[in-house]
Amino acid sequence: MTNWIRKLWALLGRPNGAALAFIVAGAGWFVVGTLYGLASAIHLYAPEAFQNIPWLVFSRVRPAHVNTVLYGFVTTMLIGCGLYYVPVLLRRPLWSERLAWGGWALWNVVILSGPIGFAFAYSQGREYTEYEWIFDVLVELVLLAILADLIMTIVYRREDTLYVAVWYFVGTFLWMSGTYPIGNVMWYPHTGAMPGIWDSLFLWFYGHNLPGLLLTPLAVGPLFFVVPRIARAPLYSHTLSLIGFWTLVALYTHIGGHHLLQAPIPAPVKVMAVASSMGMMIPVFVVLLNIWLTARGRGGALLHDPAGRFVITGTLWYVVTCIQGPLQSLPFVQRVTHFNNWTIGHSHIAVLGFAGFIALGTAWHVLPPITGRRLYSDKLVNLQFGLVLVGLGGFFVVLTAAGLVQGSSWNNGETVYRVLSMLPPYMWLRLASGLFIVAGAFVGLFNVLMTVWKGEPYAPPELAGEARPA
Ligand code: HEM
Ligand code: HEM
Repeated sequence: MTNWIRKLWALLGRPNGAALAFIVAGAGWFVVGTLYGLASAIHLYAPEAFQNIPWLVFSRVRPAHVNTVLYGFVTTMLIGCGLYYVPVLLRRPLWSERLAWGGWALWNVVILSGPIGFAFAYSQGREYTEYEWIFDVLVELVLLAILADLIMTIVYRREDTLYVAVWYFVGTFLWMSGTYPIGNVMWYPHTGAMPGIWDSLFLWFYGHNLPGLLLTPLAVGPLFFVVPRIARAPLYSHTLSLIGFWTLVALYTHIGGHHLLQAPIPAPVKVMAVASSMGMMIPVFVVLLNIWLTARGRGGALLHDPAGRFVITGTLWYVVTCIQGPLQSLPFVQRVTHFNNWTIGHSHIAVLGFAGFIALGTAWHVLPPITGRRLYSDKLVNLQFGLVLVGLGGFFVVLTAAGLVQGSSWNNGETVYRVLSMLPPYMWLRLASGLFIVAGAFVGLFNVLMTVWKGEPYAPPELAGEARPA
């Protein structure tokens, strides 16, 4: 027995093991989360389909979908990628692999509590903060454990320069470990909520820091790692990367009020939220300009690389998301777009199109050096790219159109029940588009598992400067 524990302990201490475990888990949760999305989409097309089976009612499968794709797929996969590229950029192994493995285990308990707990109605019933209090505690422990691991890795680094990709990854854990308990109102364990409008303010403070201080830095960091490596070019401008980083911190933290423009919150909060939402164009376009200028003249190399194609397409979805975002923060635009499928379209192109595409691209890029094996199949990566792109493109067009129909009809005085009868064709098309994404998730999981199991041996290429491995 002690021999067995010693072997396990040694195995957990192997370099990059935890990074790989996060990526594999992310690929698995992609499948589970999108299946719950499919169930939600079936509800919206055929509400009687599941005959009121309690664990499949809409109010249970929807949060299982949202939390599993958001935290389980995109966040988990991006954490795995960061746990690989940060040590590479610091030229030393992660300070403690075992601490990262501990984080992995607790994190996956939290994600699992979604599909299982919500199915039995164990939920705080508050969007994006549905996990019960005990799981909030686990999330906080994971954030702090990984933060400590990263700080110690930085302290004992062998590289003097702290590249901006490292800043974004460490920043994520620093900001989220502070934001998560506030947004989840963790000082009220029984409800995880406060009464009235105060609760909305706290919820949406968190609600937009979730994309802003979790998904955005987790997804922007890898851009600075992957693009110079595939393009084999140094980063265009270190100064621009610093401007992008600090303006993100300065502007993103207080824009949650744009979710509450119709609610009786103080007017200055609304003004600040709308003004800062417009200001968000600065960090977004400064980062994109820097990345695209790094890749200039080498776009072909990026688009021909299966992983690079995902990452560059992620930057394009980022453009669409972040033109749409500031515009839909304006009160006169929200008169048409709020409370309808337009926002659902925005959520999908943001979380899957921007952060998800970068997560998938980076994972395909780092899997060979992590596992020491070539990808099992480049063709399957391309197939996944095609399936997810077609599905998401369908989502964007169909949900945007449905949202415009809803918003303009309501503005013209139509009642909700008459507008509802116009929606089935859109909901059917969304369901059909979703099948492509679900198929893409299965293809991805198969390719990840086969790479780990059967991939050919891999020899890393020679790289220079920022792109150089440890
Ligand atoms: C320039 C930056 C952005 C701005 C100004 C912005 C603005 C907005 C606004 C105003 C809404 C609320 C729409 C409504 O309820 O009428 C919204 C919703 C949302 N945004 Fe963004 N957005 C931005 C970028 C992003 C990014 C990068 C992500 C994800 C990575 C994201 C994810 C979401 C999600 C998930 C929702 C839905 C929230 C809900 O459940 O109601 N956004 N955004
Ligand atoms: C990894 C891929 C996906 C991600 C990251 C994702 C993300 C999200 C997010 C953030 C929301 C909340 C939107 C909001 O409240 O504004 C949502 C809702 C939803 N998603 Fe997804 N989703 C994904 C895939 C899918 C798939 C494949 C389907 C269908 C087959 C689907 C169907 C739905 C449905 C039906 C809702 C509820 C919409 C409503 O309440 O009107 N999603 N998803």
